[in-house]
This record gives sequence, C-alpha cells and structure tokens, in this order.
Amino acid sequence: MDAALRALREEAKKGRDPACADETLDYLLHTAETLHALRFLEIGAGEGLTSVAFFLKTGGDFVAIEKDPSRAARARENFRRFGCGAHATLLEGDAGKLLPLLSGKFDLIFLDGPKAQYRRYLFDCKRLLREGGVLLSDDVLLFGWVRGEPPKKRRMLAEHLREYLGMLSSDPELSTKVLELGEGLAVSQKIAPEHKEES
Ligand SMILES: C[S@@+](CC[C@H](N)C(=O)[O-])C[C@H]1O[C@@H](n2cnc3c(N)ncnc32)[C@H](O)[C@@H]1O
Repeated sequence: MDAALRALREEAKKGRDPACADETLDYLLHTAETLHALRFLEIGAGEGLTSVAFFLKTGGDFVAIEKDPSRAARARENFRRFGCGAHATLLEGDAGKLLPLLSGKFDLIFLDGPKAQYRRYLFDCKRLLREGGVLLSDDVLLFGWVRGEPPKKRRMLAEHLREYLGMLSSDPELSTKVLELGEGLAVSQKIAPEHKEES
C-alpha cells in the first residue's frame, strides 16, 4: 500500500470513528479486484481513506458519503492529494437523505456509517448494487455483542445489528456470509432470486 496512505490510516485508526481494520480493507480490495469493480460507494467515508485505497487499486470511480463536516473536508483534501480528480464524488450530508437521491449501479458498496441505520439503508444499497455486485457491511458483530451479551447501554444497537443480519440472510436477492474480520464483516452478493441456495 502507498506509504502516505498507510500513515494516514494509522492516524485515522486512533480516532473515535476509526478507519476500517487492515484485514477488512485487504478483503475489500481483493473483492474489488475479483469483481473488476469500477464503481464504488462508501457510506460513512470518514476521511475518505478506504475510497482512496479503492481508487489507487482499481483506477475506478467512487461516491463517498460523509456527514461530519470536518471529516468531509479531510476526505476532500485526501482525494485531491491522491489525485482522484473526477473519479471522486464526495457527498457531504446524512446518508439517509442522500442515498435515495443516488442513481446508477455500483459494483461494490461499503456500508460503514451509523450501525443503527443499516436496516434503513439496505433498501437503497440493494437498489444501487448491480447483479453480481457485493455489499460489504462493516462492524456487524461489534465486540462480540451481537452474538453474545452486550453491555446494557449497547443492547439496542446489538439488537439493530441482529435484525440487520436477519434481513440480509433472509433476503432472496442476497447471498450473505459473515466474516470475522475487524469487528465483523457481512459480505452480501446480489443474485437473481432463483439462484439463492437453500441453507
Ligand atoms: C467508522 S467511520 C468510517 C471509516 C471509513 N469508512 C474508513 O474506512 O476509513 C464512520 C463514519 O460514518 C460517519 N457518519 C455517521 N453518521 C452518518 C450519517 N448519518 N451519514 C453519513 N455519514 C455518517 C461518521 O462521521 C464517520 O466518519
């Protein structure tokens, strides 16, 4: 990986809303390569470092959505710094409001915004994913809370994520597996309904 990008990621991993885990990014980039992905959507882009990594790997286009103005400003600066140019579209604002306005199809979507909203975002993620494309949902196991016993304050969030995982696994248009990468990564490929295997 580009040394400057690695250094920025190390800094961004120390923050309250950290950059994704190295193993998660490796899996994402491998998936992008396998899919020959040329259109990427990142929901909750932080400083834009995962989108930059996608761009450096594939040369493809991406749309990055980020609500926090200071992080969005850093993402804008990073897109400029890494020469993303017209390949980058930064949408600053609430993903819940912006996602319904997007059109076209994406090969790969990285859902890494507010975990309590994943269920709400799923409709648009599916709508925006091409058939055969992959939705990666990050942090779906959250410190073991989703499959185990969460602290009292986190029960609601764990329940949201359990419901989200239920929605993914029961969706006839998605084939989903959950990988123990980072805090849990759900990998959902969009398939024609008749191709879904019985589980
Ligand atoms: C875990 S961080 C993202 C890390 C980034 N995906 C990466 O890999 O470097 C989650 C981000 O979601 C953003 N976020 C939170 N609520 C949001 C919302 N409603 N719409 C868009 N972004 C949101 C936060 O500001 C934060 O930057």
